[in-house]
Amino acid sequence: MTQARELPKIMYRRMQHADIPGVQDLASRTSKSEVAWRDWEDDALLRRLIDAPWTMPFVALADGHIVGVVFLGDTGTRLLLNHLCVDPSARRRGIGQELVRCALKEMYQISPVRHVIALVRGNNPLGMEFWQKVDGFKDETVCDDIHSFCMDLDPSGSPWLTD
Ligand SMILES: CC(C)(COP(=O)(O)OP(=O)(O)OC[C@H]1O[C@@H](n2cnc3c(N)ncnc32)[C@H](O)[C@@H]1OP(=O)(O)O)[C@@H](O)C(=O)NCCC(=O)NCCS
Repeated sequence: MTQARELPKIMYRRMQHADIPGVQDLASRTSKSEVAWRDWEDDALLRRLIDAPWTMPFVALADGHIVGVVFLGDTGTRLLLNHLCVDPSARRRGIGQELVRCALKEMYQISPVRHVIALVRGNNPLGMEFWQKVDGFKDETVCDDIHSFCMDLDPSGSPWLTD
């Protein structure tokens, strides 16, 4: 994990229904080349993702405004990290990494699945730089230019599961 730094006052928690407009607003401030998944414009889908037991959207808030989001999915044997996005004006302050850590920690308490995967397109330089740099994840397979960054959580000492 990269060195801890002075962070702005950011709150990390599970996404709630009331966060939907803020998450959609974040998506609208992010270019389509960065986040291709546009289904999050669909209110009903976002409500289902919040309510379903096998998915966990997680948000970062600064002064009550959504500045980051990640969607975790639990397949029973793997945790999938999808659609990680940080507000363009709040990047490179550790928010993306902390959002992933907080979401993994909470999801692990509900479902102690050790194998974690993030899928990133090779033509997404921000996503590639991020997953290549954060500790613990390895770029294991490439298929059709989609990279699988994988990590096995160690419940006895993973920095991803501790404060
Ligand atoms: C990828 C993304 C979520 C990273 O969020 P972030 O809050 O800026 O990331 P962090 O500040 O936690 O970065 C952690 C480390 O990743 C690396 N990193 C992140 N962005 C980087 C960049 N643009 N260039 C080089 N390294 C980068 C750095 O090593 C960084 O640590 P450092 O700043 O101490 O050097 C953000 O750039 C984003 O929303 N991009 C658009 C959506 C996207 O590409 N999502 C990924 C799809 S899975």
